[in-house]
Order: sequence, then C-alpha cells, then structure tokens
Amino acid sequence: MPMRNLKNQYIWITGASDGIGKELAIQLAKKGAHIILTARKEQKLKEVASQLEGDKHIVFPMDLLETDKIPAKTKELLQKVPTIDVLINNAGISQRSLVKETTIEVDRKIMELDHFSKVILTKELLPLFLEKQAGQIVTISSVAGKIGTPMRSAYCAAKHAIIGFMDSLRAEVHNDNIRVLVVTPGSVQTNISKNALEGDGKDHGVTDPAIANGMSVEECGRRIVRAMEQEKSELLVAKGKEKMAANLKRFFPSLLFKMVRSTKTT
Ligand SMILES: NC(=O)c1ccc[n+]([C@@H]2O[C@H](COP(=O)([O-])OP(=O)(O)OC[C@H]3O[C@@H](n4cnc5c(N)ncnc54)[C@H](OP(=O)(O)O)[C@@H]3O)[C@@H](O)[C@H]2O)c1
Repeated sequence: MPMRNLKNQYIWITGASDGIGKELAIQLAKKGAHIILTARKEQKLKEVASQLEGDKHIVFPMDLLETDKIPAKTKELLQKVPTIDVLINNAGISQRSLVKETTIEVDRKIMELDHFSKVILTKELLPLFLEKQAGQIVTISSVAGKIGTPMRSAYCAAKHAIIGFMDSLRAEVHNDNIRVLVVTPGSVQTNISKNALEGDGKDHGVTDPAIANGMSVEECGRRIVRAMEQEKSELLVAKGKEKMAANLKRFFPSLLFKMVRSTKTT
C-alpha cells in the first residue's frame, strides 16, 4: 500500500476553526505538516493555530459562500506559501427541514457551500498540482452522500453531487500522480447540527441525539489521517446503523429505502 509522508507538506484545510477540520489541523500538525487554516471566524482560527505543533501555520480567513472571490483568494494565498501539497475540502453546513418547508434559497446556499465552493477551490489548485505532477485532494462528504434521508434533502443532494465530481476527477488525474480521497463520515460529535439550517434559513441551534452519541472527533480525525497516508480513494467513517445503511444501499437498495422511511430522523 502506498504511504504518503505528511511531514513538511503544506496542507490547506477549509472549515479549520471547529469540528473535524480543527481536529485534522491538530493531528496533521503533529505529523509535521504546515497547515493553512481557513474558515470565516478569524479569531477562532488564530486560537486553533496557537494550539498547533510547529511554527509555519497560516491563518487565512475566507467566506467560502462568496464563491466569486475564491479564485482571487487562492492566488493571494499562493503568494504567501511556497506551495500547496494537499487540499482538504471540509467546510460544510447541514440541514434540518422537510422538503415542503425548505426555501429554495436554503437549497441553493447548501449546494453553494457543500458542492460548488469545493469544485471551485479544487479547480483553482488543479493547475498547480498538474504542473507539479503531485498533490492530494481530500473531500469530506458524508454518509448522506450515499443515502438520502428525511430532513436532509439539500444536504444529501450536495453531498451526493460532490462524490460524483470527485470520482470523475480521481479517474482523470490518476496518471498525473494526483490522489483524490472522498470521506463519508456518519455522525461525529461536532457542532454540525447546531449550525445546520432550518427551512427558513435559521440556525437549528440544537445538538441532535445522533450527533451527541456519534463518533468522537479525535477518532474520526485519526481515521482520515491514516487514509490520507495510505492514499485511499474512499473512506467510510461510521459505526452501527449508519455503517450498515451505507452498505445496504449498495446491495439491497429497496430494503434500505423501507428502513429509511420507518426510521425517525431529527
Ligand atoms: N459532524 C458530523 O456528524 C458530520 C458527518 C458527516 C459529514 N460531516 C461533514 O464534515 C465537514 C465538517 O463538519 P463539522 O462536523 O466539523 O461541522 P462544524 O463543527 O459545524 O464545522 C464546520 C466548519 O465549516 C466552517 N464554515 C461554515 N460555513 C463556512 C463558510 N461559509 N465559509 C468558510 N467556512 C465555513 C466553520 O467555520 P466558521 O463558522 O468559522 O466559518 C467550521 O470551521 C462538513 O462538510 C460536514 O458536512 C460532518
């Protein structure tokens, strides 16, 4: 199995101010990587950066919903760092609302952040990776990118879409020595459900039982880092029912659809 050495790699992590992105920053810095931390909240990014081992980390705030600014911001970043070796497309926002109560603005906002911002960022870095004939693109999708569940229509749509994009890209760039990893976590103990959007665009503000009882963010981070080192193409980071559901969808889709409609989703 190929082993990527992450020491001295410049790794750009979006959504690095909290949750899975923050944990990846901590664990990758321990491996000797130089981290570029992106999210909206500059102060939180600075606090995370101050906790990291090593001294070549960069705080680079961005609102990824401002997708038209991503190309210029990427060029600005490339002036500040010697190179970028790995992109971790992690920033995302979830949803807690039925289709019938979700405004199209909310559908578009989730698609803009969870799909298009990742597509644009990836396309901005691709010329550099092609020129170097090296690079790794890691994208945090979700089990929701494999199965559709109630209350998550926009989120599932965006998470499915980004898997399709990344699967195509992986095949296109394999011979250019660029590796593409798609991660599909189940519930992980972060602020994802607090920050999720309700149908009218308001924050949900509540930690769901599934998230509260989910995998620890440390374990999720460890599994992702190992998959990066092993240059895996896909990683399912889930336990129990969520792990089973992702596998059932592949082999017994009708059974899965039946189970999903009789499972209470909050
Ligand atoms: N936790 C789970 O159960 C779970 C399961 C499957 C997949 N995932 C995926 O994992 C990824 C990370 O989620 P998480 O669980 O760590 O959630 P989280 O704790 O809510 O963190 C989300 C991160 O995204 C950043 N972000 C949100 N909107 C942004 C924007 N417009 N521009 C730039 N950054 C933005 C946030 O920072 P700022 O607020 O500072 O911008 C924060 O750093 C997401 O893609 C999520 O869909 C999570």
